[in-house]
Parts: sequence; structure tokens; C-alpha cells
Amino acid sequence: MTQKFIINGRKPLKGTMAVSGSKNAALPLIAASILASSPVELSNVPDIQDVNTMLKILAYLGAKTEWVKPGVIRIDCAKLCSRNLPHELVCKLRASILLISPLLARFGKAKMAYPGGCVIGKRPLDAHLDTPKYLGAKVKSGKYLQLSAKQLKGTRIIIEEVSVTGTESAIMAAVTAKGETELVLAAMEPHVQDLCRFLNKMGAKIRGIGTHILKITGVRKLKGVRHKVIADYIELGTFAIAAALVPKSKVTITGGNPEDLEALWNKFREIGVNFSIKDKNVTVKHTPRLKPCRKLITRVHPGFPTDLQAPFGLLLTQAPGVVKVFETIFEGRLNYLFELEKMGARVEILNPHQAIVIGPTKLRGANVTSCDLRAGATLVLAALAAQGTSEVAHIDYIDRGYEAFEEKLKGLGARIRRVAS
Ligand code: EPZ
Repeated sequence: MTQKFIINGRKPLKGTMAVSGSKNAALPLIAASILASSPVELSNVPDIQDVNTMLKILAYLGAKTEWVKPGVIRIDCAKLCSRNLPHELVCKLRASILLISPLLARFGKAKMAYPGGCVIGKRPLDAHLDTPKYLGAKVKSGKYLQLSAKQLKGTRIIIEEVSVTGTESAIMAAVTAKGETELVLAAMEPHVQDLCRFLNKMGAKIRGIGTHILKITGVRKLKGVRHKVIADYIELGTFAIAAALVPKSKVTITGGNPEDLEALWNKFREIGVNFSIKDKNVTVKHTPRLKPCRKLITRVHPGFPTDLQAPFGLLLTQAPGVVKVFETIFEGRLNYLFELEKMGARVEILNPHQAIVIGPTKLRGANVTSCDLRAGATLVLAALAAQGTSEVAHIDYIDRGYEAFEEKLKGLGARIRRVAS
């Protein structure tokens, strides 16, 4: 049963909110627990659908998984067995593809249906299947993805697409492969770095963390450890943009790593957003008169993150002028602009990777529908800034990736309520 938010716009957001742990860090960490010979304990884990789905998949494989207290999960893979992962489990999220490498590394084989996830583009899997092949695995892709290898052997791999989960898969395949692996053009998003730090704590030997070249020396055994999941920089950015957008708002966001969002703060400075950063806390005030933006281009980290392209595209509807938005990573991540048009935005989608936004335009309440996780959050932000009442449908997307989203917004004064559609 789908649900929707009903939102009364233009209520100022005031006060302090704390960022949760990162969805895109927690998911690979849960997958990597498969490699541990003893229990793993992860703290600062967001209680969101994608995390619980990954835990359900591990439990299906025989792992003991439990929330020992809010934010803390314990995963014991001692009794894990190698089973085919069925469609109904893995189709719910893209991150299920992250299981294939650790299962291959641990059991010498892995078989799973195709992963799901937000429809923001074709999202091929070559980066996930090429690297095990380079390391010596046999790969078959038909109704299922099937990989097998007696012993993975290290080598030099150039990861064609700078793929985030593709890099994470390659790292998890290489850490127990025989000999040296060099991953060239590795992604270096904060969550990729967190995975490397976690694996090194477990006994892996990964060098070059935070660069696009990772050197990995295979080890025989990895032990379970305690690890705190990094803060969610996309949630931090989402709430910072909300505060800049909604009239008369002033919000301080704590618990994040602002250094992960240099590219956003540079854009904030370019368009004159009123914000400050002190001891890792970010305070953002509504900025009624923004300056023109030259253009917005999404890039791999540390460039402007594709996951903030939609929220920032919304903010650009309030900036003067005509600005080009280049979504260079995905070919299906501009559709939220059609929903914003229903609220009064002036936009043009030129092709799957480019759009223009003309501002400033007044936003008025409307009935809109989320088309993916970050687009859903963007429509909520637009409704918070719009004159009048809005309904945002298909909010189950939002539940996949933002912990207690409406509770945090209500805590800042937003008038938002969840009802059955
Ligand atoms: C991860 O997706 C994130 N998901 C996405 O976050 C994020 O938008 C994306 O990285 C980019 O930062 C998780 O970490 C669970 P990619 P991923 O592989 O790994 C192409 C969110 O909102 N590609 O980096 O699937 C692909 O088509 C989600 O939290 C290939 O060509 O993204 C895309 O154009 C949405 N072949 C580009 O690379 C492959 O095998 C980037 O994709 C894999 C990817």
C-alpha cells in the first residue's frame, strides 16, 4: 500500500537536526560482513528500508543479524551458507549487487537474481562482473547472475565506469584474492573510503584510500570488528538546501562531515546562500535573494554529487537567470523537473543529461509524485517552500534512504503528515 505526504508550505524551518549514518556506507559494510570470520558490530546505522532489506537477505543466507539497540546492528556470519538469492529479495534495491563479490570470495561461487533500485538510468552491471572476471572468476549472466572461482588472483584492473558499487564490489573481491590487485579509476566517494577503513580494521591491506588508485594485498583471513558508519553527507546536503530554500528558515545541522561536501559549499558561495560551518556543524539561513548560478554539473567525488542534483536543481528555481544542469552520471535523473513544473517552476529538459532551469519562480502547492529516492525528497522540499498545500505520492522511495525524514522536518516546524494514498 503506497503512502503520501500532505504538506502545508512556507512554515519556517527552525532549530537543530542531527544527521543519521550514511545509507550508502551502511549497505556495503553489511555486505562486507560476509567476509568476517567472527561477529561484526556496526553503530550509527540508519534504520531505513534498504538496511533492513540487506539484513533480511543475510538472514536468508543463515547469518544471525539483530538490532542490539537503536542504531547498532550485530551480524554473525559464522553459519552463513551459499544459497541462490531469489528475485523477490534482491529486486528491492541496487545495493544487493554488493553481495555477489563477498559470497564469491567466501564460497568460491555466487548465484543471484538481478538487483533492483531507483530507476535513474539503465544501471548496467558490467563494472560488477568485469572485475571478478579479471580476478579469474567464471561469470554467467542469464536468468541469474552466476560466478565461480577456485581462487581469485590479484591483478591490475581499470574500472571502466567510475562506478561506486562497482568499486566496492572489486575491493571486496580483491581483499582475500591471492597476491596484489591494483584498482585504477576506483571511485572515492566517502562511503567507498569508509568501506576500505572497515576492511583494513578487519585485517585487509588496502592502500591509496581517498584516491582513484587502490593497491590491495590479498590476505587469508578477516576478523569481525566494531565500526561506526560515517555520517550521511547526502542527508546533510538535503537539509542544508531545505533551510536555504524555505522562507524565514534557520537550521543548524549537527553530526555530519561537512568536508565531504566541498562542492556543495562552493555552489552555495557562488549563488550567495547564507551559511556557516563551525566545528563540523553547518548553520544555513533562508536566503531570499540568490545570485545567478553559472551552471550545475554532477561529477564523481569530490565533484558535485549526483544525489544532490535534484535538491540543488530545486534551489536553482529560486535563483535569477537561466542555468544549465548537466547530470553527467545518470541518464534518467532529470524527471523530477516535470513534477516541479506542476508547482510553477520553469524548466526545459534538453536531453537525458541536460536541462535548463529559469528563475526565480514562485512555487505553489500541487499534487506531485516521487520518481526516485532523491527526487522524492526534492518534492517534499519544494512543497515545504511552496504557497499552499501539496501532496507528495509514492513516498516509499523516501523511506528507503532517509531515516525519520518527516519526524526530523516536523522537529524543525514543518507541517507534514503521512497518510495512505
Ligand atoms: C551508487 O549507485 C549509489 N548507490 C547511488 O545512490 C549514487 O547515485 C551512485 O552511486 C553515484 O554516486 C549506492 O551506493 C547503493 P554507479 P551505483 O555504479 O553504484 C554506470 C541514492 O540516491 N555504470 O556509480 O549503482 C551507471 O550507469 C543512490 O542513494 C555502468 O556503466 O552507481 C552510471 O551511469 C541512487 N556499469 C554510472 O556508472 C556498471 O556496472 C554511475 O553508476 C555500473 C555503473
